[in-house]
Amino acid sequence: MSKEAQQRMEKIVSLCKRRGFIFQSSEIYGGLNGFWDYGPMGVELKRNLKDFWWRRNVHEREDMVGMDGSIIMNRAVWKASGHEDTFNDPMVDCKNCQARLRADQLPRKDDTPYCPNCGSRDLTEPRAFGLMLKSYAGPLENDDNLVYLRPETAQAMFVQFKNILETSRKKLPFGIAQIGKAFRNEINPRNYIFRSREFEQMEIEYFCRAEDGLALTDYWLEERLKFYEDIGIPRSKIKIHDIPDGERAFYSKKTYDLEYEFPFGLSELEGVAYRTDYDLSAHIKHSGKPLDYFDEEKKEKFIPHVVEPSAGVDRTALALICEAFDEEEVTDEKGNKEVRTVLRFHPRMAPVKCGVFPLLKNKPALVEKAKAIAASLRPHMMVFYDEAGAIGRRYRRQDEIGTPFCVTVDFDTIGENGPEKADTVTLRHRDSMEQERIPISELRARLEAAIF
Ligand code: GAP
Repeated sequence: MSKEAQQRMEKIVSLCKRRGFIFQSSEIYGGLNGFWDYGPMGVELKRNLKDFWWRRNVHEREDMVGMDGSIIMNRAVWKASGHEDTFNDPMVDCKNCQARLRADQLPRKDDTPYCPNCGSRDLTEPRAFGLMLKSYAGPLENDDNLVYLRPETAQAMFVQFKNILETSRKKLPFGIAQIGKAFRNEINPRNYIFRSREFEQMEIEYFCRAEDGLALTDYWLEERLKFYEDIGIPRSKIKIHDIPDGERAFYSKKTYDLEYEFPFGLSELEGVAYRTDYDLSAHIKHSGKPLDYFDEEKKEKFIPHVVEPSAGVDRTALALICEAFDEEEVTDEKGNKEVRTVLRFHPRMAPVKCGVFPLLKNKPALVEKAKAIAASLRPHMMVFYDEAGAIGRRYRRQDEIGTPFCVTVDFDTIGENGPEKADTVTLRHRDSMEQERIPISELRARLEAAIF
């Protein structure tokens, strides 16, 4: 990472802590590597992201339904899916500096791998490190009661395929969507929340006929790019990596990785994979239960194929923050230059939609009016009421958390400068810092149009 990129990342991490986006999990006890807590701003950001994903992919579509599976499932699920036997990373230890390293990511010189930490070539043989977190369900901690915390949400959608097909009465092609926690015992959690041990996924399993699989993979790639654009991550910032033959999972006929240019480098945000009928076939074989599909019109029975767009909530939240983070030099009312830190979130992703301020906190008529406006907006959006400090400082505080609009109640609002300006407020725009005067009666509709 360049020095500039490193500094940018440090500023982002510091802002996220200072303004209540992300905290180290169990911080007062020294934290826990690979685990994070989301504070008041972070949880709103994630909720906006998940709600919009759900709206786009479930509510606005006729061919999709949702589900919410359990985190812990019968161990047989993970045997059938192949995770129990193969979901591991090959690791080596450097005998010189004791660093633990991914065997498949080692740098090489003259075709010999070496430790990127100290340069030593004295490495152990690769060993498999299981990525699934284990627990026990039942009174005894024995092999019979061993369970895994799911490493992906996907499997519940495969094992419930038949139930969902029958209860939703969908016809192919149709999809199941799910958002939920996943756990992986990552050897090297790193890059802030990018690679964690506990994270959330937003996954779709889109079931189709075999002959439509490849075209639908391209269709979903396009849908997902549109989604990122609609939350404020432009196409130009996403690199599509068409995984070549030989590097994809053996059952996949096509996989696209969508990569975002994080300050620490281009890294995977989402995968769109055509998984053929591998998953349903594996569960048919292991469970002995029919998970096939009967086409009424063609009188055909077959195992559907599946296209899987699988995105990470935390990685997308981090991309949103990185994309939004900006610093610009501005001149304040007294002519002094200062650096304004601003998160330029798309209004639909911004944790707080509108700041509401009385111009002065010691004028009861201003305070009362501002509080009434905040209360009237609250059922419709996240609002922040603030009366502390100079108005300029209040704007800056909202800029730092990415609030797209601020409303100020002043003496015009309460009719002290004539009836024509009564019941109007100033609406301040975060990005341009421009202010306009609008009637209170138009406020809600104006804000809702921007944040929908
Ligand atoms: N069902 C397919 C699947 O799970 P994956 O590429 O292993 O595929 C999908 O994971 C997405 O989940 C990734 O693109 C990423 O956004 C997110 N993800 C995976 N591992 C993660 C981790 N350790 N920390 C944060 N996000 C992760």
